[in-house]
Amino acid sequence: MAGGKFTVTAALPYANGPLHLGHIAGVYLPADIFARFLRLNGDDVVFICGSDEHGAAITLRAKKEGITPKEIVDKYYTLISNSFQSFGITFDMFHRTSEELHHQTSQEFFLKLYNSNKFIEETTDQYFDADFNQFLADRYITGTCPKCNYDNAYGDQCEKCGSDLSPLDLINPLSTLSGKRPVLKSTSHWYLPMDKHETWLKEYIQNGVLDGEVHHNPKLWRNQVTGQCMSWINGGLKPRAMTRDLDWGVKVPLPIADGKVLYVWLDAPIGYISATKAWAEANNKDWRQYWVKEHAENRRLVHFIGKDNIVFHAIIFPILLKDHGDFILPENVPASEFLNLEGDKFSTSRNWAVWLHEYLETYPGKEDELKYVLTSIAPESKDSEFTWKEFQARINNELADVLGNFVNRTLVLTHKYYEGVVPNKVDLNDIDLILIEDLTKFPGKIADLIYAYKFREAQAEVMNLARIGNKYLADQEPWKVIKTDPQRVQTVINLSLQITANLSLFLLPFLPKTAKKLQQMLGIQLNDWTVGGSSELITEGTQINQPEILFSKIEDSLVEFEVNKLKSTDKHSTMVEAQKETVSFDDFSKMDIRLGTIIFAQKVQKADKLLQLTVDIGIDQRTIVSGIAEHYSPEEVIGKTVAVLLNLAPRKIRGIESQGMILMAENESGELSFMSPEKAFSAGGEIR
Ligand code: MF3
Ligand code: ZN
Repeated sequence: MAGGKFTVTAALPYANGPLHLGHIAGVYLPADIFARFLRLNGDDVVFICGSDEHGAAITLRAKKEGITPKEIVDKYYTLISNSFQSFGITFDMFHRTSEELHHQTSQEFFLKLYNSNKFIEETTDQYFDADFNQFLADRYITGTCPKCNYDNAYGDQCEKCGSDLSPLDLINPLSTLSGKRPVLKSTSHWYLPMDKHETWLKEYIQNGVLDGEVHHNPKLWRNQVTGQCMSWINGGLKPRAMTRDLDWGVKVPLPIADGKVLYVWLDAPIGYISATKAWAEANNKDWRQYWVKEHAENRRLVHFIGKDNIVFHAIIFPILLKDHGDFILPENVPASEFLNLEGDKFSTSRNWAVWLHEYLETYPGKEDELKYVLTSIAPESKDSEFTWKEFQARINNELADVLGNFVNRTLVLTHKYYEGVVPNKVDLNDIDLILIEDLTKFPGKIADLIYAYKFREAQAEVMNLARIGNKYLADQEPWKVIKTDPQRVQTVINLSLQITANLSLFLLPFLPKTAKKLQQMLGIQLNDWTVGGSSELITEGTQINQPEILFSKIEDSLVEFEVNKLKSTDKHSTMVEAQKETVSFDDFSKMDIRLGTIIFAQKVQKADKLLQLTVDIGIDQRTIVSGIAEHYSPEEVIGKTVAVLLNLAPRKIRGIESQGMILMAENESGELSFMSPEKAFSAGGEIR
């Protein structure tokens, strides 16, 4: 099977937030296992990714954080690419869609389709936010889903029922900018007439046939991918706008299209091509060999994605590629289902997530442990779940007790009996011969599973080899036999070392750090899959190094800590309000905030919550009514120096004129606290 040619892509993550374990388990880890395996197996592969830096996902996030879209994408590009790197995801290129090369590439792509009349121009009424002077596409508009009644559906999609929507479908539409009901205004856009493509798409997806020729094996497409595509197609494809009225994105390269950009789902997948160009340029390669039909004969394009991206990669992008004409089409789109976390969906807004960068910071050096667990539970064909309890169990019972234990016993015995020198095999018995025969089957079995995108099973096969090794040692009992038949022990240890050496090869795609550590302990270097299965991988007489423990056990306290952390931040984040809109420095400096010392306090009659205070603020002493009576008694507050907003317009509260406001902090349980200076400052000190 070796000698194949692959262009492998992993979905470009939006540069609008960090990555969590769901993204990793579903997309980036399987893609990396695939790419690492292909390299080992001698296939020709380029592995492409980058950040998706356009679209409403970015601009809305920027608004929320009160910074510019450019600042958002820079911030998250850095965070995401660093965490990929330290986790050990081996992209050949991690590009950005904000790069000039990408803008050019996607504009050229658009123009080619435009010039060959692949789009239809249409003028329609679209929702418009008059306060913000902006059209409201996609996530700029929310409303009630017409299919399932979920009241927070986006203009492009309902996240509850998964329906694909257009803003005009929404019941009770609201602008996410002003919060108001939008008006209709006419605008023109270029649409991709997807309906015209139904016939060939069916052939391509169901039968793997393209332009009358066999293109791929449709049996290797995951059921959920084919199923989702067919239900889309059978439901009738509709023309979809490929441009937007926005000022953030790739400009539509037409003089008549001022203020318009390409739809993010048009430019993002083209990002795979731009990224390949950037990689080729930097590495003296010809990018066309990876994408252009004429130069990329027999090359297989494989897109790793999550299930919410299926339609874009298996329907829309293929239409675009085919319309363009120069390019190869995806041979497979291995989309994953979703990973859940401790009984609930991952949720960024609730902070119900395990963030990759946090894991890497908290558990440096434990990348392989996480990889192992995530691949073991990967949501390949149905949704699955990550729990810290299972994380612990898999590491302790499988990595430590099966793999670690076998390797350790083998290496310790080699040192104990042979001073670390690999003994030779003599007089093989039936059990040995069966073992040797079994061993030869592993590289093929694992490879077949990987080529079939079954990474979970492939990794389980590697573990099976470790189990076979453990059983062999347990049955042969070299520690007993050494007294009666030392020659027999040489064979047992030699074969156990052969299994260990094979493991150090087979583990490379899955647990690369562990595999290399193991090779280092064995004093060998293996990076060619095709030598696997041999029982001569490590030659007799080789001096091996001292064994180190491969995996330490995970304590209960870690599980407790992580589960509590999740629960406490969850409660917290439901409390914490999103950041408010940006204010200018001028706005801020209009507020006169100073330190004031409370010199008198009494309860306000018939008002449980209110205290009437007299506060010395340096320039005068004034009355302030404050809603703190449930938290502080009058006696407690007298003498305290606290932050006071002086120039808040005076208001009458219960007949008393309040001339300012005491600033208070509130915690998640609703307790209040004064904001007092940390040094002994007296009344009048300005706060700015
Ligand atoms: N940014 C998208 C997401 O996170 C994925 C884009 S994949 C690409 O869902 F093909 F468009 F690049
Ligand atoms: Zn819905």
